[in-house]
Formats: sequence, C-alpha cells, structure tokens
Amino acid sequence: MKKDTGSHKKLLALIAIIAVIALLHYLTPTEPHTYHRLHIILRKLYFLPPVMAAAWFGLRGACATALAVSLLFGTHAFLDWPGNYMEQANQLGELAGFWVAGVVPGLLFDRQRELLREVAAANEETLLALVSALDLRERNTRLHSQRVREYAELLAERCGSDAATRREIGFGALLHDVGKIAVPDHILLKADTLSEEEWQVMRRHPEAGYRIVQRIGFLRNAAQIVRAHHERYDGTGYPRGLRGDEIPPGARIFMVADVYDALTSPRPYRTTMSHEEAASEIVKRQGSKFDPAVVTAFLSIPVGELKAIAARYREADVGD
Ligand SMILES: [Fe+2]
Repeated sequence: MKKDTGSHKKLLALIAIIAVIALLHYLTPTEPHTYHRLHIILRKLYFLPPVMAAAWFGLRGACATALAVSLLFGTHAFLDWPGNYMEQANQLGELAGFWVAGVVPGLLFDRQRELLREVAAANEETLLALVSALDLRERNTRLHSQRVREYAELLAERCGSDAATRREIGFGALLHDVGKIAVPDHILLKADTLSEEEWQVMRRHPEAGYRIVQRIGFLRNAAQIVRAHHERYDGTGYPRGLRGDEIPPGARIFMVADVYDALTSPRPYRTTMSHEEAASEIVKRQGSKFDPAVVTAFLSIPVGELKAIAARYREADVGD
C-alpha cells in the first residue's frame, strides 16, 4: 500500500515536470535571439524526465516517458520550424538523445533492482537455514520460527503496523531464539527441570541473540524484539523486567504469536490445543504476560487465516 502511494506520487511529479518543461518550451518564443537562447536551454531539460523515469520505474517507465517527451518535442519542432529541414534534423538528433538518456539508465536500474532482489532472496534463504537448524536442534521442529513469523506479521497488520514495520517484526520473530546458539546442549536439551545456575545460562539467550542480530544493518529494529522476547507485560519477564509500553510493540506482538504456535503445533509428549482452547489460554494471560490490546487484535483475526499459515508450514518432513 505504501509502495503504491509512493509510485503514484512519483508519477504525478513526473507528469508535473514534463508539463512545466513543455509549457515553458512552447511559450518561450524563438525570436528575438535572447529568447531563443532561453528556448534552447529549456528544450535541453527534456532529458530530465526520461532519466527520472528510468530511476523510478525502470526501462518500461523510461520508454513511456521518452515517448511522451518525443511527442511534445517533435510536435513543437515541426510547428515552430516548418520547412526548415536542417533545424528539424538537429532537433531529431536531440530527440534520439532523450531515448538514450532513458533507455540506458533504464536497463541499468532494472539490472540493479534484479541484483537487489537476488541479494534479498539470498539473505532470506540464509536466515531460514539458520533458524531451521536452531528450531530442529531445540524442538525437533523445523518450521516453528517461520510460522511464528507469519502469525506475528498478520497480527502486526491487525495492530495497524505499516509494511516496513511488519517486515521488521517478521525478522524479529524469525530470529527470536538465535541467542540459544550460545546455550550448551546439556542445558538446552535437558528433559528435567533446570537448576538455578542452568536457568541463569538459559536466561542470557535474549541478550546473546541481540548482540548477534544488532550488528546486521537491516536487522537493527528486529534486534530489539530478539532482546525483549521474554519480557512480560506485568514486568516479571527477563532480561530487563520491562513493563507494559516499555516493551517494544513488536515484542508484545511476538509474544502472542509465539505462544499461539507453541499451543497449537503438534509436539511429542504434549497434547495439541485447538484454536479455541489456545485463544482462551491467551485471553487468560492478557495483562500478565500479554498486552491486552494485542490480544484484542489477535481475537479479531479470522480463524481461517491462522489455519492457512499452520497448513502452509506443516511439520510433515520432521525426521527426514
Ligand atoms: Fe526465547
């Protein structure tokens, strides 16, 4: 939605710039000579819109803009210089320049966008491989973090977050337990109750995760969620004992998504709850563990949307 609004603004800016250049070009007379100099400078400005369109919209936008500019420029050349073939040939050369000014950067910008998409996809694949390995190590599931990410993004949308914030919350949810990489197996995988010393080690994982993630530029905001994912709304969580609005909004959203997945996903030695049972369990903990506003937003999500996420990431391949 935000991207569409940005594109509309750019399109309007482009149309406005072309209109202003064309208006000034058409209205500035070619006689006397002083005006003609200004007239020539104005017509050089037609180079600007195809370059801007290439940067904003790529090759197709650049070609569409070069075509619009060609029609305006060409019409003027023939209206203003009837029968003057030398001047018309000169202006035809300029017109070809407008196309070069649009097409060459258009091709380059398209290639750059493609490369950025490839880098983003590679980042995504790397993160997914990392969290799948961590999930498998601790829970014998590969997809917990990916489901939690989708639940969290859906919930963030319900809470009114914009697309960029939803993406950051998604990354935070995906990487929430990355700090467990620093927790030894004999503690992380211990079947019995942890001793006080072992709990102390376990409770360091949000800070450990934060230190890992905050060093990566595009994950800075996600790192705040990683750090705060074991806080509780009533202030009894860890590591900092944050309370209420002191907890980053993304972390408050994450908490509901994480518990919903934990309650509704099949796990060995534990019965799986239905959606209704899990929802009532979450409602019971609003105000203590969860932000009541986030719980309200969660309850407004149609069950079908949550079930579609669960179905997309079913643990069919565990044990392969
Ligand atoms: Fe955790």
